[in-house]
Amino acid sequence: MRCLHLLLRVSPAALLLILCLQLGTNEAQEDTRKAIIMGVELPQKATANEEVTVILRAATQFRECMVIKSYLKSNVSIEGAFNYQYTSCLCEDYPRTFYWDFQANSTAKITTVIDVVRVLNICPEDKAVIPIEANRFSVTKTLTIG
Ligand SMILES: *[C@@H]1O[C@H](CO)[C@@H](O)[C@H](O)[C@H]1NC(C)=O
Ligand SMILES: *[C@@H]1O[C@H](CO)[C@@H](O)[C@H](O)[C@H]1NC(C)=O
Repeated sequence: MRCLHLLLRVSPAALLLILCLQLGTNEAQEDTRKAIIMGVELPQKATANEEVTVILRAATQFRECMVIKSYLKSNVSIEGAFNYQYTSCLCEDYPRTFYWDFQANSTAKITTVIDVVRVLNICPEDKAVIPIEANRFSVTKTLTIG
């Protein structure tokens, strides 16, 4: 009886806090820290020789930093900046954004790739790791020209 009475007097804010604490605990138990999180923006359509931009947003939930190589692949050959490869340090508190501007003449299947690589002098003091379960991550989208 007394307990029920006490519960009824608990403010909604306190209940919310308890709920949040429980949710937080569940998340920690799963421990689903992701090595690489990729967000890729690419227009679905363009006209021939129109300049298009691929934007890649890369992030990690790992506590350790990683050296990543980011690049694009296509089933048709595309010239210029499309072929540029970025090598950079990715850390939990330091997400990165990469841009590629290019022109395509024909419909292309474009794959944005991140490889976690072992390269020195990229991360501060070379403090970086390579995930053992997978070290290549990619997103494929189609750019329709017409
Ligand atoms: C795309 O068009 C340019 C200019 O018209 C041309 O030089 C180039 O060879 C074309 N590329 C392909 C893959 O067809
Ligand atoms: C490339 O992929 C696109 C999308 O799947 C397709 O429409 C196109 O025909 C392919 N081109 C070649 C040369 O395979």
